[in-house]
Amino acid sequence: MRIQVVGFGNVGKNLIALIDEKKEFLKSLGASLKVVSVSDSGGTVCKKDGLDLKDVLKRKEDGWKGFKPYSEGYSALSAIKDLAGDVVVELTPSTPSGEPGLSHIKAALEREKNVVTANKGPLVVAFEDLVNLSKRKHVRLLYEATVAAHLPVFCMIESCFAADELVRVEGILNGTTNFIIGEMEKGRDFQSCLDHAVEEGWAETNYSDDVDGIDAARKTVILANSYFKRGATLGDVRIDGIRNVRKTIEKAKSQNKRVKLICNIRWREADVEMSVSPRLIAPDDPFAAVNGGDMALKLFFKTSQQIFVSAQFTGVKQTAYAVLNDIIKMAFPTQACRML
Ligand SMILES: NC(=O)c1ccc[n+]([C@@H]2O[C@H](COP(=O)([O-])OP(=O)(O)OC[C@H]3O[C@@H](n4cnc5c(N)ncnc54)[C@H](OP(=O)(O)O)[C@@H]3O)[C@@H](O)[C@H]2O)c1
Repeated sequence: MRIQVVGFGNVGKNLIALIDEKKEFLKSLGASLKVVSVSDSGGTVCKKDGLDLKDVLKRKEDGWKGFKPYSEGYSALSAIKDLAGDVVVELTPSTPSGEPGLSHIKAALEREKNVVTANKGPLVVAFEDLVNLSKRKHVRLLYEATVAAHLPVFCMIESCFAADELVRVEGILNGTTNFIIGEMEKGRDFQSCLDHAVEEGWAETNYSDDVDGIDAARKTVILANSYFKRGATLGDVRIDGIRNVRKTIEKAKSQNKRVKLICNIRWREADVEMSVSPRLIAPDDPFAAVNGGDMALKLFFKTSQQIFVSAQFTGVKQTAYAVLNDIIKMAFPTQACRML
């Protein structure tokens, strides 16, 4: 399978390293992955038979200095349009307009290429259009890494609860704010906690998206579009971030409670209510034990009732893993590869 990677930052680099690290294992599964192009904001490096991934990683670290195969100015969009590939992996920053990711994903689907993405922006502004386009072109659009990194939210609901109806979702879906609030509860100041999250590469490229609740709201919209109502937008979410969370933390302390930034989606009278806000959490609530950059969801179904899932987030490699897992699903569309 020929893969084109668009966006070579934290997630992109970890993905390339992971494909390289796992190449023998992937071969043993019968998945032959060839990365045929990698694009960043400045240009593209490509090779029909597959790039030497270790070399590409090193050259990127060196700023592509003197690396002839890197065509400066040859854009990701041109690479998607011109070059042969089976899967385009879109990993550019999540933005309010959805660009440049939206154009990349549209171009890929138009050319009947499958798409895997961790980029929330395009799905927030054009979920329905993109899903419809992928259906029209008979290709797949997978986006597991957009919500809760490696916690397989979409896969789990689709494959394990196909006979049930989801009525409500609550989640801790932004690791950066969960980490910051947790450290502030221990007495640290807001800025030093934020700096730490940025250093670790967890924070969004524009970190105000994290602290103002926008990243969590984007995930809320993607979940809502997937399961409740196509056409939900960011404007439909009531958003309250964590810049002024200190007072809430003090109040929670006085009641022996914790504070968590909670995403909430509730299906009510044929419409969907969505919010993101810091909430007081009782010590016996499972959310109270979700610490650091970890993420968790409570899913409320009509029949199976409440399911609680959580995952430890130790770093961006796990996001890259979720992307790789979606790529593998493209290689084996009808069955889990472990069962082959
Ligand atoms: N970090 C996480 O743990 C995490 C978790 C879940 C989802 N995500 C999502 O994954 C995506 C990538 O995140 P990241 O942390 O890897 O971001 P990042 O470190 O900022 O990397 C973004 C990459 O996109 C490239 N880029 C920007 N504009 C481009 C363009 N027009 N054409 C081609 N490439 C372009 C940048 O190029 P340069 O290298 O030249 O600057 C950079 O390589 C984001 O949408 C984010 O929301 C991230």
